[in-house]
Amino acid sequence: MDSPTTPLISRRDALIVGAATAAAVSSSAPAMATQAAPSASASAIPRAKLTLNVNGQAHSLDLDTRTTLLDALREHLHLGGTKKGCDHGQCGACTVIADGRRINACLSLAVMHDGGQITTIEGLGTPQNMHPLQAAFVKHDGYQCGYCTPGQICSAVAVLDEIKRGVPSHVSADLTVRPLLSADELRERMSGNICRCGAYSNIVDAITEVAGSRT
Ligand code: FES
Ligand code: FES
Repeated sequence: MDSPTTPLISRRDALIVGAATAAAVSSSAPAMATQAAPSASASAIPRAKLTLNVNGQAHSLDLDTRTTLLDALREHLHLGGTKKGCDHGQCGACTVIADGRRINACLSLAVMHDGGQITTIEGLGTPQNMHPLQAAFVKHDGYQCGYCTPGQICSAVAVLDEIKRGVPSHVSADLTVRPLLSADELRERMSGNICRCGAYSNIVDAITEVAGSRT
């Protein structure tokens, strides 16, 4: 009688069985792969022609329809000012202004903006002629590494416009009155723009100065 510790099959037998099974599976694999291969037409990449008006200049593009607005700007129009941080809508580094509203360009397909007006950091100002917010960020040290800065500034431009138009935020106490530029309003509205360098207090100072009120 076999003891509980006596193997019913030797290790050598087990290896032989295993090798034979692997060989059988691999010999049938090509046939399975052939069956699963998609047809040429099904695998064709869908493309679309579109026009993006970026910083006042029209660009005709022919893109894979899956191209994000961020990749269209960076990889196709070579506007590298808009940054790719997370590529998942979490950091705000890719913020641009699309038809007057700030959006995360990594979460938006380029084809959704056919004929639209896009403003990137390159369209706000130049080193010789900076936008007031760009100048304020420099003045108040609103950045350290600078990676988040284009998104911060594009977002801040749109935030000031939102407040001017009376658009409420999650911290607006009364939705029927025009929101004021309080520190809470500013922090809430800018909360989608992450700064790993922690330049937040200087960013608030810069935006507040341009808004013309102190918190
Ligand atoms: S890169 Fe778009 S939100 Fe981070
Ligand atoms: S300045 Fe470095 S991430 Fe904001």
